[in-house]
Amino acid sequence: MATAPAALWSSRLAFVLAATGSAVGLGNIWKFPYVAGESGGGAFVLIYLLCVVVIGVPLMMAEILMGRRGRQNPADSFRDLASESGARSWWWLVGFMGIIAGILILSFYSVIAGWAMAYVPVAVSGGFTGADAATISGLFGDLVSDPKRLLFWHSLFIVITIGIVSAGVEAGLEKAVKYLMPALLGILLILFGYSAASGYMDQALTFMFSPDFSKVTPQVVLSAVGMAFFSLSLGMGAIMMYGAYLPDRASIPKLALAVVSADTAVAILAGLAIFPIVFANDLAPGAGPGLVFETLPLAFGQMTGGWVLGTLFFLLLVVAALTSAISLLEPSVSWAVRHTGLNRKAAALLAGGTVWLLGLGTVFSFNIAADFKPLLDRTVFDLLDGLTSNIMLPLGGLLIAIFVARFMSRKVLGEELQLEDGLVFKLWHFLLRYVVRVCIILVFLNATGLLPKALSLIGVEW
Ligand code: TRP
Repeated sequence: MATAPAALWSSRLAFVLAATGSAVGLGNIWKFPYVAGESGGGAFVLIYLLCVVVIGVPLMMAEILMGRRGRQNPADSFRDLASESGARSWWWLVGFMGIIAGILILSFYSVIAGWAMAYVPVAVSGGFTGADAATISGLFGDLVSDPKRLLFWHSLFIVITIGIVSAGVEAGLEKAVKYLMPALLGILLILFGYSAASGYMDQALTFMFSPDFSKVTPQVVLSAVGMAFFSLSLGMGAIMMYGAYLPDRASIPKLALAVVSADTAVAILAGLAIFPIVFANDLAPGAGPGLVFETLPLAFGQMTGGWVLGTLFFLLLVVAALTSAISLLEPSVSWAVRHTGLNRKAAALLAGGTVWLLGLGTVFSFNIAADFKPLLDRTVFDLLDGLTSNIMLPLGGLLIAIFVARFMSRKVLGEELQLEDGLVFKLWHFLLRYVVRVCIILVFLNATGLLPKALSLIGVEW
C-alpha cells in the first residue's frame, strides 16, 4: 500500500462532507429537476433511482477504494494499482481521461454557477419582488443573452475556485462545508415547506413518482444513467482523488452509502421544492436549463421577505457549486504538481486558466454563438454536457468497474473495504463485475442505435 499523502482529511466526517460537497451541486438543484422535467418525470426518476442503487453505490465504493490504495491523482493511482495487480500499464490513461473530463465539465459548470452568482445581486435589490412569470423569465433571458455579464461571473467563479484549490483542500474547505452544507439543506427545507403549502404538491408528486413507461425512450435511459454519474461525481476520478486523502481505517462501504444517500435526498427534495411552483404558475416542466432560474424567483417574489430567502438560496447554490468545482479541478492540479514541477499555486492557475478559456465556448453558446452548432445540431454547451455526462463519465465508470472487479485481487479489495468474504462483499463484487458492466454497455449500445436493431432481430420492439 502506498504511503499516505501529506494532506489527509482530519476525520471521516470531513471526508463525508467533502465528498457530499462534491456530489451535491448544480447537478442536484439545477440539472436534476430540468432533466427530469424534459424526460417526462416519473419514469425518468425511477430509472435514475435504480441507477443510483445498482451502479452508483458499488462504483462509489470502487472509486474511494482505488483512491485510498493509490493515494495519488487518478492517473497515477491507476498506474500504480495496475502494476500492483499485474494489469497493463496503459490503464493510467483511464485516470487521465478522467482528469480531462473534469476540466471539460468545469468549463461549463462554471458558467452555470455564474448564473447563480449573477442572481444574488438581483435578489438583494428586490428584482423578484412581485414579478410575474413573464418578467422573471425576461430577467433570465437578459442574463444569458449578455455575453459580458456571463463572462464576468464565469471569470469570478473560476478565480474563487482557483483560490480555494491553490490554498489546499483541508483547512478552508473542510470548515466551509461543515457549515454551508447544513445551511443549504435548511434553505431547501424551507422552500419545500413553501411549495407544500402552495397546493400543488400532489401534482408534483404525481409528476415525479408515477412512471409513465410510454415515455421511456433510449434517450431517457441514457440521460438517467448520465445524470446518476454526474450527480454522484462518478466516472472521472473526483471521488478517487478525495479517497486518496482518506485515513486508513475509515469504513468505505459506510462512507459511500452516506454520500450517495445525502446526494439522492437533496435531488429529490429539490424536485419537490421546484415542481409545485412550476405547476402553480402554469410553467413548463420541460423548460430546459433555465428551469430553476425561472421558477424559484417567482416563489421568492411572492413571499413576504422573499428577497432574503432568494438571496440565501442563490448564495447557497453558489456554495454548493464551489464545493463541487474544487473536486473537478483538484485531480488536474494534483497531476500537474506531480508531473510539471510547478508548485500548487501555479498548477492551479494553469489548470484553472485552461478551464476559463474553454468556458468561453459555453458563454457564447447562449448568445452570439447560439446558432453555431458544430456537430449533431447542438451548441457548444450541449455538446460538452452530452460528451461528458453521457459518454466520458459512463465510459470511465465502466473501465473503473472492470479494473477493480477483474484485475484487483479479492484479498486487496477485502482488506480495503474491511469486509469479510461474506454476503455484502459478494453482492458488491457481483454488482461491479456484471451488473454495472452490462448496464453501461447496454446503455451505450442503446445510444448508438445498435440495441434496438439487435432486439428487433429477436422480435422485440423498443
Ligand atoms: N456532482 C456535482 C453536481 O451534482 C458535479 C460534479 C462534481 C461532478 N465533481 C464531479 C460531476 C465529477 C461529474 C464528475 O453538481
